[in-house]
Amino acid sequence: MRVVDAVKFCEKELVMFENPTLEAEWLVALSLGIGRADIYKTDEIDKELEKRLISNLKKRKKGMPLEYVVSSANFYGYDLFVNKNVLVPRPETEELVLLAKDYILPTHDVLDIGTGSGAIAIAIKKQTNANVFAVDKSRRALKIAKINAENNHADINFAFSDLFSGVKGHKFDVIIANPPYISRKEYEKLDKTVKNYEPKLALFGGEDGLKFYKRIIKDAPKFLKEGGKIFFEIGFDQADDVSKLLEKDFENIKVKKDLEGNDRMVFATKRR
Ligand SMILES: C[S@@+](CC[C@H](N)C(=O)[O-])C[C@H]1O[C@@H](n2cnc3c(N)ncnc32)[C@H](O)[C@@H]1O
Repeated sequence: MRVVDAVKFCEKELVMFENPTLEAEWLVALSLGIGRADIYKTDEIDKELEKRLISNLKKRKKGMPLEYVVSSANFYGYDLFVNKNVLVPRPETEELVLLAKDYILPTHDVLDIGTGSGAIAIAIKKQTNANVFAVDKSRRALKIAKINAENNHADINFAFSDLFSGVKGHKFDVIIANPPYISRKEYEKLDKTVKNYEPKLALFGGEDGLKFYKRIIKDAPKFLKEGGKIFFEIGFDQADDVSKLLEKDFENIKVKKDLEGNDRMVFATKRR
């Protein structure tokens, strides 16, 4: 089969998607490891690659997120290996990195809680060259984060940890987290493509979705240096709740919207 015909074939098979052409183009490009500009070439695809493409097409038709199909995601310009043990890093989280990096110096100690694929930790390390620590409660996720750090030449200290349990005795200049924040009610309503494929441990934030914010905010002052800062990604309707939780021990509490106009980030400074 020629590349150009493969795109046409996939397009017909992917009619259940909103934009079958785009779906087909990405599937072919990523499955064959070529740029999207090369998909209209008339080159023949070898049998091995053709088999891979057909197998990927079957998975995508069932609704598997494209990143899991091709085992790869791009975050902040860094290529990451992903599979069902880690959340596919989202564009909103790139905005959290964009926000936090301007407050981080190369001399700083930074903690990424719930690192998953390592997305935030790797981007922060590459952008700031700070001393980055990254923790997760999933050993499988940590394994992937370590592979991604190595592939991206990012020197990061990883630890298995239930929130702060694995970093006792350390103090950080910056804590950054995109914790699981989906409430029970929202979890039940989640799109099948998310619910059936992405790990519940990475998504479910307890009955009200605030479980991890409560736990992290309670302990964070002990793990932050004087004047240390905390940065959270939040669900679009959690800004007030998370800001309130921060009021006791933090000052300069600020909420920032993402590019879609939703409240998406909250950050604050440890009260002196
Ligand atoms: C929403 S995902 C974020 C993943 C990644 N940081 C990102 O932004 O793409 C939340 C992560 O928190 C981890 N997690 C869940 N409970 C945890 C806990 N008690 N302690 C540490 N990490 C936890 C999950 O395994 C998952 O990797």
